[in-house]
Amino acid sequence: MTQNWIKVATVGDVPEDGTLLVDAGPEPVCLYNLAGKIYATHDTCSHGAASLADGFVDGEYIECPLHQGTFHIPTGKAAGVPCRVDIKIYPVKIEDGAVFVASAE
Ligand code: FES
Repeated sequence: MTQNWIKVATVGDVPEDGTLLVDAGPEPVCLYNLAGKIYATHDTCSHGAASLADGFVDGEYIECPLHQGTFHIPTGKAAGVPCRVDIKIYPVKIEDGAVFVASAE
């Protein structure tokens, strides 16, 4: 399995304490800017068909817009009911102000 780095945005595209929905290959990915550090998780909530990019960032947590379940952004761990299944996280690298996300192929 090799890591395939995909350029998905520039750092300035990701609002501080906000989200940005991007595509990393076939997968919808949600980017976050937590105090200047960029994180990436799968965009789809593990509880239902909701886009986490439409959710609410609270510290290091993203709250799903549909049933208000929460996930820990840096680890993808399900943190609040009704979410019980973790979401995938992606390695992120920044080069010359561009955000790259690694998608395993
Ligand atoms: S779909 Fe996200 S908490 Fe239900």
